[in-house]
Amino acid sequence: MSDDPTPPLDAMSLRLAAANALIRRRRTIKPAEMTEKPVEPRHLASILENANWAPTHGLTEPWRFFVFTGDGRQRLADYCQSLYRRLTPETEFRQDKFDKLGSQPLLAPVVIAIAMKRQEIEKIPELEEIESVACAVHNMHLTASALGMAAFWATPPLVYHDEMRSWLGLTDPRDKCLGLFYLGWPKSEEWPEGRRGDLAAKIVHLPK
Ligand SMILES: Cc1cc2nc3c(=O)[nH]c(=O)nc-3n(C[C@H](O)[C@H](O)[C@H](O)COP(=O)(O)O)c2cc1C
Repeated sequence: MSDDPTPPLDAMSLRLAAANALIRRRRTIKPAEMTEKPVEPRHLASILENANWAPTHGLTEPWRFFVFTGDGRQRLADYCQSLYRRLTPETEFRQDKFDKLGSQPLLAPVVIAIAMKRQEIEKIPELEEIESVACAVHNMHLTASALGMAAFWATPPLVYHDEMRSWLGLTDPRDKCLGLFYLGWPKSEEWPEGRRGDLAAKIVHLPK
């Protein structure tokens, strides 16, 4: 018999506790804080499978993922650097940004370019398709955190450029790249703390 005098939690309380912990403990951990430990295919598969369960208006499932591993990351890094050089006027060129575009993809074992595939008939508003992809990315991030993995959604401005979209193989100009999702294992054994502002300031209860 246990000495614990508290009554056991019911199933709903357990589910809620698990959801609270997962959502509140999900953290951004950037590539510089990742180890070289590879991502196992079964973990990557779980992360992508959960992305595919995102909500989607009209069941368009607009999310697309381009998974870069191994030498593919070098190709991505080289392309991002060349695009940055081409798009940036000389007076605005920043060597530190250029260097980071080249180094960051190599610091994470997996980099996933995120994209939105526009529905042919455009019945669903574009904004909702982008929202749906964001839900898919959030599913990926939650799953990564549940596995104890480091993940980071990065949106350097060049990802939104048409050339990035077509380099990924998306031929329809209405499609969009929405960023890079870096995935790996955290160096630190300490999980980072999150920080959020006052919730009450973001809610309006009506009528007043
Ligand atoms: C759509 C989107 C784009 C983001 N782009 C960047 C980015 O380009 N650079 C960056 O440092 N963080 C980026 N972030 C991550 C945020 O910095 C991060 O979510 C925020 O600091 C809160 O930390 P948390 O994710 O650990 O709660 C992005 C997040 C979202 C949702």
